[in-house]
Amino acid sequence: MTLTVPVDTGLARYDIRIGAGLLRDPASWEGMPPSRHAVIVTNVTIAPLWAQTLAQMLTSLHRQVSVLELPDGEAHKDWPALNSIFDHLLQSGCDRQTVLYALGGGVVGDMTGFAAGCYMRGIPFVQVPTTLLAQVDSSVGGKTAINHRLGKNMIGLFNQPIRVVCDLDTLRTLPQRELVAGLAEVIKYGPIADPVFFDWIERELDALLARDVQALAHAVQRSCEIKAQVVGQDEREGGVRAILNFGHTFGHAIETALGYGQWLHGEAVGCGMLMATDLSMQLGLVGPQHLERMRDVLVRCGLPTRAPDLGVAAYLSLMGRDKKAQAGEIRFVVLDGWGRAAVRPAPDECVSEVIQRAVTR
Ligand code: NAD
Ligand code: GLY
Repeated sequence: MTLTVPVDTGLARYDIRIGAGLLRDPASWEGMPPSRHAVIVTNVTIAPLWAQTLAQMLTSLHRQVSVLELPDGEAHKDWPALNSIFDHLLQSGCDRQTVLYALGGGVVGDMTGFAAGCYMRGIPFVQVPTTLLAQVDSSVGGKTAINHRLGKNMIGLFNQPIRVVCDLDTLRTLPQRELVAGLAEVIKYGPIADPVFFDWIERELDALLARDVQALAHAVQRSCEIKAQVVGQDEREGGVRAILNFGHTFGHAIETALGYGQWLHGEAVGCGMLMATDLSMQLGLVGPQHLERMRDVLVRCGLPTRAPDLGVAAYLSLMGRDKKAQAGEIRFVVLDGWGRAAVRPAPDECVSEVIQRAVTR
């Protein structure tokens, strides 16, 4: 069965299709522009697993389907890899009607979306996410970017896909560590938007960890519904969309300090969510039972809960470069009660205590 979640930002409308076997299902691709060229942008790890299946299906829509394999990893979410997409498009004679298909995780999706937004001033692209993290988060909402040595996702643009196809079968080949990192972004949606969903995650966590397809389908569907609702209100992150960055202010500091790829993005976000829940508790916005529940669920997943000891000053300096910072003041996504989030500054002493507790827990 295919589940459909619509996204409507006012300027862009598209569907997220969720189900098993969707790569092979012609219905997933109905309505795609029947252009001459299609390019599947993927990486060296995913290509041997899934590119052929997608390419076979797309040959019924496009006369020329090519596959571009990027190097794998967060460290390659950079200018050289992005340029290699432009090289391929120009060398293959791709025109303005060419459709890009991003087959992969958030790294491939973010770079393909960026390339599609720039090539000939914009060509259509489809997200075909193959990690849990990409299915529940990065493929939806149109944020695209590459990293800079001085900060994550610092160079990019908003560019919505024309469709998102989440084939749950692709998750079968995902390493367990990656699945677990994706669960961190699923967990995120509970405390910021839907406490009932968090209750469900607590109950179904073993099924999710065992990749039960029904459990995964619900997790992807509910996550996408929440994300679509938020993005529909605030595509460009002028306000409410920032709540989707719960855990990311601390998490990005960890990723940037350790070097991209040491901790997976979802791992850093998981640890960051615990720190942000602790901060919310210090500010009197949630109770100790909420911190306990967050810690328990992360521990059951096997996600790291102890933050790397970078020193408080390094955390503060890295977080000062966060995109939410205003006039040098760091702003945090905190829980404004369990199931609601808000963005606000916090006293340095509180933040320092949170960091100190996180590196010693
Ligand atoms: P990733 O893209 O690096 O993929 C993780 C690993 O899994 C890679 O080694 C990849 O080759 C491999 N892989 C992917 N699918 C596979 C499959 N089906 N089978 C086997 N291996 C597979 O990482 P990710 O966690 O998907 O994404 C993280 C990235 O997403 C970060 O760069 C982050 O900044 C970005 N992100 C973007 C947004 C957004 O809104 N645009 C949101 C969240 C995260
Ligand atoms: N992952 C945060 C966002 O898409 O806004």
